[in-house]
Amino acid sequence: MKRLAVLASGRGSNLQSIIDAINSGEIKDAEIAVIISNNKDAYALERAKESNIKSKFVDAKDFENKVKYDEELSKIIKENNADLVILAGYIKILTKEFVEQFPNKIINIHPALLPKHGGKGMYGKYVHEAVLKSGDSESGCTAHFVTAEVDEGPIISQAKVPVLPNDTVDTLAKRVLAEEHKLFIQAIKSVISKETSKL
Ligand code: GRF
Repeated sequence: MKRLAVLASGRGSNLQSIIDAINSGEIKDAEIAVIISNNKDAYALERAKESNIKSKFVDAKDFENKVKYDEELSKIIKENNADLVILAGYIKILTKEFVEQFPNKIINIHPALLPKHGGKGMYGKYVHEAVLKSGDSESGCTAHFVTAEVDEGPIISQAKVPVLPNDTVDTLAKRVLAEEHKLFIQAIKSVISKETSKL
């Protein structure tokens, strides 16, 4: 049984698709061991409660710096014997010290076709704004392993969507998000099937 630690900062729709995929049996031999958020108001924490999944709010104000904050994350992840760390809309940039503890064990979903429209500051609406501004005829989402360089880790899989002439940030974001929910599940399944050792 693979144990997942899921980090989420906001709405948690990707988290919900993982919960639903585990409950439906689409993702086999996996369970969410713990859900961690940096945001006490994250709806992701509400979703955790609704599904009776252990969750923790870790308040940045309680830690003197990012390294110490991420040390707390690492402690919780290891205490819960997680095999994989899933970033499901996690807004904070993970420190090198943290990432190096979990090589090829951290998976992220990005709402664009990396390496395009990625990197520091490229999240949420900023990504879709950049895609629209670029004039690209297609966009999509990318599931990838997380390394110390933001959005530069090895790509696991991608899914494409068309950019339509009258798209707004919202219409494009919605189209991409629908693909994210499917792609993330497939990516997690493929990593779990290859996953061997514990963290
Ligand atoms: C998604 O668009 C994802 O690509 C990005 O953050 C957003 C999270 O949405 N990493 P949600 O919280 O999963 O609904």
